[in-house]
Amino acid sequence: MKIVKAIQPISFVCAAMFLGLLALGVAGVTVAGVTFLDGAASAQSGGTVPGNSVGNISDSELWHRIRRGERGTVSLPDRQAGVMIQSEGDNWRAVRNGPVSFYGAWLMAMTLLVLLLFFLVRGRIRIESGLSGREVERFNGLERFTHWMTAGSFVVLGLSGLNMLYGRYVFIPLIGPETFSTLTYYGKLGHNFLGFAFMAGLVLIVLLWVRDNMPSRADWDWIKRGGGMFFLSVHPPAHKFNAGQKFIFWLTVLVGASISFSGISLMFPFTFEPFAGTFAVMNMIGFDLPTTLTSMQEMQLTQLWHTVLSMAMIAVILAHIYIGWIGMEGAYDAMGHGYVDENWAREHHSLWVAEMKQGGDQTGSGKGNA
Ligand code: HEM
Repeated sequence: MKIVKAIQPISFVCAAMFLGLLALGVAGVTVAGVTFLDGAASAQSGGTVPGNSVGNISDSELWHRIRRGERGTVSLPDRQAGVMIQSEGDNWRAVRNGPVSFYGAWLMAMTLLVLLLFFLVRGRIRIESGLSGREVERFNGLERFTHWMTAGSFVVLGLSGLNMLYGRYVFIPLIGPETFSTLTYYGKLGHNFLGFAFMAGLVLIVLLWVRDNMPSRADWDWIKRGGGMFFLSVHPPAHKFNAGQKFIFWLTVLVGASISFSGISLMFPFTFEPFAGTFAVMNMIGFDLPTTLTSMQEMQLTQLWHTVLSMAMIAVILAHIYIGWIGMEGAYDAMGHGYVDENWAREHHSLWVAEMKQGGDQTGSGKGNA
């Protein structure tokens, strides 16, 4: 439960951080503002900067407005081409390369530190009653395939995404700009395509596991007793999935879906503009957020949302990887070859074992939540 305890503050920190960053981003991008300049766009001539071209506006005022990101009129189909200097980008870049990068790195470093401390203090959680030598099936082939497809794609997406944010600072000094640009080029290709494997995994995960991840009475007891993570000989009963696993499930599904949607929006720029509508709904419950956003601001908010949510999810998934791989004896077998030792199952999922025995079900698909 220390993991869960660790996860809970982390998730609160993430939520608070996210709201803070989002507010900062929104404030930043709206500061620039957009007012329309009704003059005809002037072409440059002979390499000189156009002047006195809009009658009653002085040159300095004209360039001042252009620098602030005012939009002129263009006959091109691309509306964005009316903006000569996209000043909002300065604010977006400052938020992305400033607080988002800084606190994101901090969050992941702290997560790793907490996990290391937990390992040093608690050690590996052992099967206290020892191996029974009897195994029960926990996940069938389709479930394991789904898990590893989702997990594998998430890991590559996470690493290639972090490379986009931090790679230039970390890798260019180590491997040089040429190798870094090749690495980043293929990383970005992988990022674009593996997003679809991740999304397919999410759909399958919902179909396979949603029933076993509905809240149950046993969850609260599990949470109160720390999931048995802190002390020896504490084994709160759990169905197929305990409260901590249900948290991971819903995080994967809901946050993963939002990251996916924002990823698609980034892949097809200016196609979806979800923020103004969302802010309008949030304003109904007391927020005071801008509801008229430019297409560019929508993209910038989408990028910040995608990054912040991804880093929060990476932090929580680091804890999941720790417990599924190193932190708990016998857990990896469930996803490795699909079977777990019966004593492991009794200590961590006693209600699930009881349901299987009751139903004569040895397949491990023990269902039901009290
Ligand atoms: C890459 C290293 C990973 C390892 C070693 C790992 C390990 C495991 C194990 C052993 C289980 C079964 C636990 C049980 O039997 O009770 C599991 C379940 C699960 N994993 Fe992973 N996992 C990894 C990555 C991921 C990633 C990246 C995601 C999501 C993006 C993920 C999502 C899930 C979900 C939703 C479940 C079912 C609920 C749960 O047990 O928490 N896993 N994982």
